[in-house]
Amino acid sequence: FQSDILSGVRVVITAGPTREAIDPVRYISNHSSGKMGFALATAAMEAGARVTLIRGPVNLPDPDRIQCLRVESARDMLEASLQQLGECDIFIAAAAVADYRPLQTADQKIKKSAASDTLELTLVKNPDIVATVAGHEQRPFTVGFAAETQDVENYARHKLQQKNLDIIVANDVSRSDIGFNSDENAVTVFWQQSQQAFGQMSKTTLARELVRLIAQRYRAATE
Ligand code: PMT
Repeated sequence: FQSDILSGVRVVITAGPTREAIDPVRYISNHSSGKMGFALATAAMEAGARVTLIRGPVNLPDPDRIQCLRVESARDMLEASLQQLGECDIFIAAAAVADYRPLQTADQKIKKSAASDTLELTLVKNPDIVATVAGHEQRPFTVGFAAETQDVENYARHKLQQKNLDIIVANDVSRSDIGFNSDENAVTVFWQQSQQAFGQMSKTTLARELVRLIAQRYRAATE
């Protein structure tokens, strides 16, 4: 693995899920373990980059030699991401951000009602972090992920355009042996001119492959 392909390059990576509070003890979240984003952070660091990892709540230790920022909600993650933009050449959004959050967070624990068997929660859309970064005047080279359960290429290419990304890494999250929470993944990477598929392998090995490809496309875009 080449240790200098990102030498001096500043890379910011989001990883893990977000938590959207319903009340002081409950939240909406998803099954992201953070493994994919953490593996990318380590691979980018090994490739010579200066890495900042914006991590949602996951059970992984902070990797060595990487600046880690801990966040909970999508709005926290957006704020931390925007704060990094002055020092970011490449932004990689591997986090599984909650698309919606409760419109209101109750100050006290919501009590079980004796009167009704149902409880309604109204959700409101969260800001799109990677699209906001890609639309910013200090726009870094921007890489998104696409978690799909069907029609992977079409949805991934649509997100590439719609979110104004340079690269999108698509994974099929309908399978339990790859994607969310597993140690392995298989992806197809799309960019404007082409695409490349990576078969099933450990997230550690895949992260190195992805860093190599991202470094190539970054150089091609900035030279
Ligand atoms: O964490 P692991 O257990 O290792 O699992 C890895 C993974 C499956 C979570 C990862 O490989 C992955 O696919 N991450 C993206 C998950 C996701 O939210 O995909 P999406 O298709 O809903 O979102 C598309 C892109 O927009 C992503 O880059 C996402 O970070 C970003 N996004 C989405 C919503 C939002 N409000 N803000 C965002 O920035």
